Amino acid sequence: MPATDKQGADIGVTEALHRRRSVRAFTDRAVDPALLRDIFNAAQRAPSGGNLQPWQAVVLTGAPWQAVKDAVAGRIAMGREGYQPEYDIYPKGLVDPWESRRFGVGEALYGALEIPREDKKARLAQFMDNYRGFGAPVMLFLHCSRIMGPPQWADMGMWMQSVMLLLVEAGLASCPQECWAMYGETVRKTLGLDDGQILFSGLAIGYADATQPVNQWPVPRVGIDEAIEWQGF
Ligand SMILES: Cc1cc2nc3c(=O)[nH]c(=O)nc-3n(C[C@H](O)[C@H](O)[C@H](O)COP(=O)(O)O)c2cc1C
Repeated sequence: MPATDKQGADIGVTEALHRRRSVRAFTDRAVDPALLRDIFNAAQRAPSGGNLQPWQAVVLTGAPWQAVKDAVAGRIAMGREGYQPEYDIYPKGLVDPWESRRFGVGEALYGALEIPREDKKARLAQFMDNYRGFGAPVMLFLHCSRIMGPPQWADMGMWMQSVMLLLVEAGLASCPQECWAMYGETVRKTLGLDDGQILFSGLAIGYADATQPVNQWPVPRVGIDEAIEWQGF
């Protein structure tokens, strides 16, 4: 990748997969837009059914990024009245094994931050840090046409993972953030997107603050035997 400000040594796909994690504390170091342009050019190689390439994104820094944070803060201040969910982030009535995995990752995160279960205020404050993009200097909002269905949403995910791995290769970090879809209309309006578009997720982008415990805990995964069934081998 012809990056202009590449930090890391050349790494392979396996190493990039292991290094990528959802980073929830960033430094204020600015990100070179030329580097982002290289990354988005490479990510355009992501596959999509019928080559639809349904992903669309708005990338923000500075005042436009601040405007989204301010607009969403206004909705948050309205309490539950302010919610504008674009879609159900999780299925209603989530059951095991998925519910346990969701619970487990939350416990691991709060455990790393030494926030006990009873301290609802501190847990909420950690969650609300989502709405400053965890201090990231750049935010990307990933959206697509509302006519798109599950296959195209999967395509968006492949593009997003491609971007995240390329960011790792360039020494950058990210956090995917579907929490922004809870205030989808406000985000879309602030970005100037029309109602024909649906907001899938944010992607906070910047340089990781490696000193922060929130970026240091081991994120669990189930073993492949829980996901893969082999036949005919
Ligand atoms: C589409 C998508 C949306 C996500 N939204 C959020 C979010 O709103 N806030 C957050 O802190 N993490 C979010 N995450 C991060 C997940 O919690 C994380 O990927 C998962 O726990 C595995 O951890 P890892 O990414 O560090 O490996 C999101 C991840 C994905 C793929």
